[in-house]
Amino acid sequence: MSGIRTPDHDPDHVRILARLSGIVGPRHVLGGADAAPFCTDWRGLFTGTALAVVRPADAAQVAACVAACAAAGVAVVPQGGNTGLCGGATPQGGEIVLSLGRLNRVRDVDTVDLVMEVEAGVTLQATRLAADSAGLDLPLGIASEGSAQIGGVLATNAGGTATLRYGTARDLALGLEVVLADGRIWHGLRRLRKDNTGIALTKLFVGSEGTLGIITAACLRLVPAARAREVAFVAVASPEAALGLLGLLRRADGAALAAFEYISGAALRLALAQIEGLIDPLGTAAGHYVLVEMSSPRAEAALAPVLEAVLAEALEGGLVTDAVLAASEAQRTGLWRLRETLTEAQQRAGATVKNDISVPISRIPDFLRQAAVVCEARVPGLGVVPFGHFGDGNIHFNLMVPDASAAEDLMHAVGEVARGMGGSFSAEHGVGQLKTGLLAAWRGGVEMDMFAAIKGALDPRGVLNPGKILASTSRT
Ligand code: FAD
Ligand code: MLT
Ligand code: ZN
Repeated sequence: MSGIRTPDHDPDHVRILARLSGIVGPRHVLGGADAAPFCTDWRGLFTGTALAVVRPADAAQVAACVAACAAAGVAVVPQGGNTGLCGGATPQGGEIVLSLGRLNRVRDVDTVDLVMEVEAGVTLQATRLAADSAGLDLPLGIASEGSAQIGGVLATNAGGTATLRYGTARDLALGLEVVLADGRIWHGLRRLRKDNTGIALTKLFVGSEGTLGIITAACLRLVPAARAREVAFVAVASPEAALGLLGLLRRADGAALAAFEYISGAALRLALAQIEGLIDPLGTAAGHYVLVEMSSPRAEAALAPVLEAVLAEALEGGLVTDAVLAASEAQRTGLWRLRETLTEAQQRAGATVKNDISVPISRIPDFLRQAAVVCEARVPGLGVVPFGHFGDGNIHFNLMVPDASAAEDLMHAVGEVARGMGGSFSAEHGVGQLKTGLLAAWRGGVEMDMFAAIKGALDPRGVLNPGKILASTSRT
């Protein structure tokens, strides 16, 4: 974890700011003339100072800014909604922060091609609302969507509660407009479903956390909006029982299964204690819950009988101990709030360690058990509050600890449990500056060499987001 660093007052840095007048003005430099803008991430885990916060209004201004920075040897940290959980958007000292928030236009929603073109600074929520008003859906649901921006969502390859059915942000990205490290613009805003002309650059930039290019706009794949939805909140006997229930749902109507989210009893209790207005819909405490959503674009799809039949069979078989099915849109929203407020609840409750692991879905029960044993042996009495995207094999094995001193050790230990099952230490939050050590420890020389070669080819002078993903990237 990085501490506060002081900015580098190299005279070149001052000159570059002067050259950028029009993009950087006093209005856009937080902290006043003498103070370096102070930045922190959403969790308050990372802090740093920037030379300036720059707020360009379009791709040409982003390009001018990056070219000027490259010429002056100043690094650039792209920042969207600043909701990232790995410190990727926080400067480490001496960079400028390039905020994309003014690139805020939805350019087009095409109801025939099922594509939308949107600028990087539009929030995910506003993007989804624009699709919705055309009868379509951008199927990417994350609890931070009111702040997270399309550029950040793509740069982190965000997943979320609809990944089970539609994949991650990378699966929804058809084309991009990107400012490269030398200030050139790649105009890759293609809308094609199929395009095998060369290396898939769009896919490469998605998930690169601002280290290879700055995304200024994107073409995104849309789907017909759901017209029938059913949501159930289910107490299950065990994680194995959750796996059994997932199997029953897949067999009954796998195509309609839209979400299968896990909430441990401890995580639910934390949310009920921390978030005003939350109601436990079952009333009796259980150790494990799942939130199930089934949906269809056909308004007349009879999903409730299917879900009720599956839940009845699961009750009979002892997999499920209790369940409620929402009967209205307000109730559906209420059930989803139990899941979507978990991150906020943990943030309010204090020191947390986030372990965003993935394993093959079949190994989740083993993982939950083994990881709890490993953590409790290290910090007796710590709080284990796992939840997450069970249907994707992605569990947020989050921990409540008395202080942060054991965080690094716990992250590595939990990661090792996942690794033993063929898993990953970061399923959706990325690497940022939080997990560079884990990446280096996990990935062999060949893979790290390929990462470094790609970074070296696209950003040879280390202008873009140095110290993120690859700790060793430096400026020249
Ligand atoms: P930022 O935090 O601003 O930046 C994230 C990274 O992307 C940084 O490395 C930054 O440099 C880079 N970046 C930002 N914009 C650009 C750009 N235009 N071009 C190039 N690089 C850029 N994540 C999930 O995947 N699934 C979840 O379910 C989920 N739930 C969350 C719930 C809460 C309450 C919170 C706080 C976070 C959650 N997140 C989740 C994490 C976070 O919201 C996502 O990673 C989101 O995609 C980040 O978007 P942002 O605009 O806030 O990016
Ligand atoms: C979520 O799925 O709610 C977040 O990605 C998890 C987290 O905050 O750890
Ligand atoms: Zn998540």
